[in-house]
Amino acid sequence: MGEYRLLLKHVDVPNYHDIQVYEQYGGYQALRKALSMERQAIIDEVKKSGLRGRGGAGFPAWIKWNGLPKDDDKPHYVICNSDEGEPGTFKDFELMFKAPHQLVEGMIIAGYAVRAQRGYIYIRGEYVECARRVRQAIDQAYAAGYLGKNILGSGFEYDLYIHMGAGSYECGEESALMSSLMGERGQPRLKFPHAPLPTIAGVWNCPTLINNCESLSCVPHIINNGGEWYAQLGASTKNSRGTKIFSVSGHVNKPGNYEIEFGTPLMELIELAGGVRGGKLKGIIPGGSSMPILPAEKCEDAIIGYEELMEKGSMVGSGGCMVLNEHTCIVHFAWRTAEFYAHESCGKCTPCREGTRWMVQILERILQGKGRMEDIDLLLEICDQIDGRSFCALGDAAAWPVRAFIKNFRHEFEYYVKHGRSMYADNPESQAMFPPKGYQRYNPMRYEYTFGGVRK
Ligand SMILES: Cc1cc2nc3c(=O)[nH]c(=O)nc-3n(C[C@H](O)[C@H](O)[C@H](O)COP(=O)(O)O)c2cc1C
Ligand code: SF4
Repeated sequence: MGEYRLLLKHVDVPNYHDIQVYEQYGGYQALRKALSMERQAIIDEVKKSGLRGRGGAGFPAWIKWNGLPKDDDKPHYVICNSDEGEPGTFKDFELMFKAPHQLVEGMIIAGYAVRAQRGYIYIRGEYVECARRVRQAIDQAYAAGYLGKNILGSGFEYDLYIHMGAGSYECGEESALMSSLMGERGQPRLKFPHAPLPTIAGVWNCPTLINNCESLSCVPHIINNGGEWYAQLGASTKNSRGTKIFSVSGHVNKPGNYEIEFGTPLMELIELAGGVRGGKLKGIIPGGSSMPILPAEKCEDAIIGYEELMEKGSMVGSGGCMVLNEHTCIVHFAWRTAEFYAHESCGKCTPCREGTRWMVQILERILQGKGRMEDIDLLLEICDQIDGRSFCALGDAAAWPVRAFIKNFRHEFEYYVKHGRSMYADNPESQAMFPPKGYQRYNPMRYEYTFGGVRK
């Protein structure tokens, strides 16, 4: 099927981040069209498009859009989630850096549709260059009359702000993001059904629409071409419509962002990225580091779609597609992944706060050659205790990859425990992934340097 560039179509045009160039390529036509439409008609187009959230959960966008009250007096808000903390994912970076007006236009249309007066773009703290580009785009949009009072003479008033995160993965979780935006500690809040949905009581307890950067960047295309046109893309899948940007990294020849139509075979995406490098394929983590790994044999006939990948045992997630070749030591990979989630755990709930640390400690024990055979099942048991029992989905995100690594590559863990070293320790192709001798990594979670005496 090849690459299908919709959101990324013009990103390589010189100065596409500039409003004049963006307008030359049809920019802000969707906004003009949207402002001439009934608000409900815009939401109906989003419904027809079948757009599902690109931030990870794949929730139907129109349900959120339709969920904000239509006749209340409270201020309404739109938030763009550009926190992009999931390891392996870097698509929002490219969207903001190279096509910031596409996002700004999508946010203005969303704001108009849900009767919002203000929008916030919450940008990952490390994405300073992106924030500068988005800042420039917002300034240009104000100067062109696309933002501010009486936008294009429609009477609609809307302001757009940037809020920088501070590098916390947890602040990508929508309720934690809203807490952070309000100046509170970046921890999640109680959720539906125990608390109202953000569409009713979000930021400052007011109705709030929160969508991912890629989801909102789709909006101008849906309005320009119509929801039905958009829904034709990916029609071969069960319920995934449109295009999806995958950030392909790891053992591929041409890592980068690739936009494909849903329904594209997973292996075709890897071919777009230049194919596997350095050996045969061992497995693919299709949707970011929190998603379960698909071993090579399951990748062969995997189709990219929300339901299709789930049937295979993984998920589309945020589209952070990590490719592992046959020389990758899964035990090291599991440890590195677990360490990330333990570090990012906000500490609010016990299963995640304690469980993620235990997983790291057990994996470190195995890496140091002191592992016990029962540690492998102990890890699985901890995964079961965290998954579904945590306050927010970070706990699940920590448990899923480790469980999948063990279930699919148990023999590698057993070998490590039995021999006290990786089964790839003598493999020259694998050397790059092992820390050099004497390597020490400051582990802020434990306030100490770890990994010093780890054997391969
Ligand atoms: C721990 C955690 C981190 C998350 N990080 C992000 C993120 O960086 N970007 C994002 O768009 N969604 C992230 N999400 C998902 C958001 O909570 C939310 O579902 C999403 O922003 C909704 O937008 P969408 O419907 O357009 O996908 C995260 C969720 C969790 C549990
Ligand atoms: S699962 Fe619990 S400890 Fe982990 S990030 Fe969420 S609220 Fe915090």
